[in-house]
Amino acid sequence: MATTVTRDTLDDTHGEAGRVRFDELIATDSRIEPTDWMPDAYRKTLVRQISQHAHSEIIGMQPEGNWITRAPSLKRKAILMAKVQDEAGHGLYLYSAAQTLGTDREEMFEQLLSGKAKYSSIFNYLTPTWADMGSIGWLVDGAAICNQVPLCRASYGPYGRAMVRICKEESFHQRQGFEILLALMNGTDAQKKMAQESVNRWYAPALMMFGPPDDDSPNSKQSMDWKIKRFSNDELRQRFVDMLVPQAEILGITLPDPDIKWNEERGHYDFGELDWSEFYDVLKGNGQANTVRLARRRAAHENGAWVREAARAYADKQATLAAELLPVAS
Ligand SMILES: [Fe+2]
Ligand SMILES: [Fe+2]
Repeated sequence: MATTVTRDTLDDTHGEAGRVRFDELIATDSRIEPTDWMPDAYRKTLVRQISQHAHSEIIGMQPEGNWITRAPSLKRKAILMAKVQDEAGHGLYLYSAAQTLGTDREEMFEQLLSGKAKYSSIFNYLTPTWADMGSIGWLVDGAAICNQVPLCRASYGPYGRAMVRICKEESFHQRQGFEILLALMNGTDAQKKMAQESVNRWYAPALMMFGPPDDDSPNSKQSMDWKIKRFSNDELRQRFVDMLVPQAEILGITLPDPDIKWNEERGHYDFGELDWSEFYDVLKGNGQANTVRLARRRAAHENGAWVREAARAYADKQATLAAELLPVAS
């Protein structure tokens, strides 16, 4: 009979040998798998990061879900629906990845619904115009790609593998956003104005998605040593700006930062300071939509109670059936 392997028994049985092996796996750029020994702090960091990431995907469905019924054509509606469904899928892969670290999904839901867990601040901004669907795809999903492509190589196996598929889908999200803006920029003056106004609102918050400047990001170094994170916040932000400038030129959109300028010496675009007080204010709960987002998530969770109950009852029934059939089969 198989014994139940728990986190504690693993910690005990692996002991010092587990630590040596962990260090070795990290040093050789190999992967840590759920049954490997790992330091508690590594596990905690991952649970926090992966669950926050999952929460962001799920809450992130709201600003765009808001536009599904109002998308300007059947084609746009179909694309937007597919995109929002992808985000739900991303949330589910990520909750599954976090569960492999020994944290219950219910517990993670509870942390989100009680307001204890954070999610990406970008989803606390409102989406008053159709052009915001373009800006979210181009800028928010664009920033997500810059952030997430390196996570495909994260040292924790289930996280890195989940990110591979997520990144493929994010790439479609970014293109559909770019294409919405491109259509608007080829349209009437009112459409061009709407696109520019929307980009003006989303540009800086998108740049802040990479997190505070490196000097104010105390946990980054440890995450990089553990090879969860591969590049610093500022490196990723720079990469994002370098990607945006030529794309903005194709769109004919002006990025709302007069300090953007090619720096020959650095081989990168320089750009202006960001207003971090706004970032911290939104993080504290004072964004345009923090309250609305959580209230809607709570309502959706309550309304979905019957689905969870039905799924549980079905699983129990299958388990009973399997138990009844087992002696016959053997
Ligand atoms: Fe996503
Ligand atoms: Fe996305």
